[in-house]
Amino acid sequence: MKNIAIFGSGKGSNAINIIKHFNTHTYINVNALASNKPRRGFLDISYEYRINLEIINGDELNEDKWLDNFQENYQPDLIVLAGYMKLIPVPFIKKFEGKIINIHPALLPDFGGKGMYGMHVHESVIEAKRKESGITIHYVNEHYDEGEIIFQAKCSLDEHETPESLAHKIHQLEYEHYPRVIEEILAKH
Ligand code: GAR
Repeated sequence: MKNIAIFGSGKGSNAINIIKHFNTHTYINVNALASNKPRRGFLDISYEYRINLEIINGDELNEDKWLDNFQENYQPDLIVLAGYMKLIPVPFIKKFEGKIINIHPALLPDFGGKGMYGMHVHESVIEAKRKESGITIHYVNEHYDEGEIIFQAKCSLDEHETPESLAHKIHQLEYEHYPRVIEEILAKH
């Protein structure tokens, strides 16, 4: 079995989508969730799908003991960030080298970096009068949104696009592609 751990801070709609995608998979399994804002969604997801939830504040990801326990308990083959808004610290990256991916709701390297998350990204894209936006799936390194790009998909902006309507388009792209890309990565490992 290959194990996925999903980290988030938001509603967790990508987490649900990924969990559903792998629900009946023969060799890939979501066996851990971690959130620093569990009340916004991850608590319900953990309960509904009976997946262990680690409630964190983010600092644990620096601590050897926590990292060792996490590895021992869940043995993740891939750590999937799905709306996790805090910077991933170096000890966590070293522990799970090459096994951490993120999805960003814009076409990196544009509209990335500190403070560029969720609706802020969509507002900035519209303010910059861009004709297109999209999603970027990338490996995670110690800098926000700078790891190697694995996959991008685009959508076009309408004349009267709002941050909300753009967020909807982006979420549709995320639901379509993130589980598939995860599956491809794990098939290669
Ligand atoms: C997603 O659109 C994801 O791309 C974005 O947060 C949203 C989480 O939604 N991530 C970032 O902005 C990371 N910088 P969800 O909790 O419903 O999956």
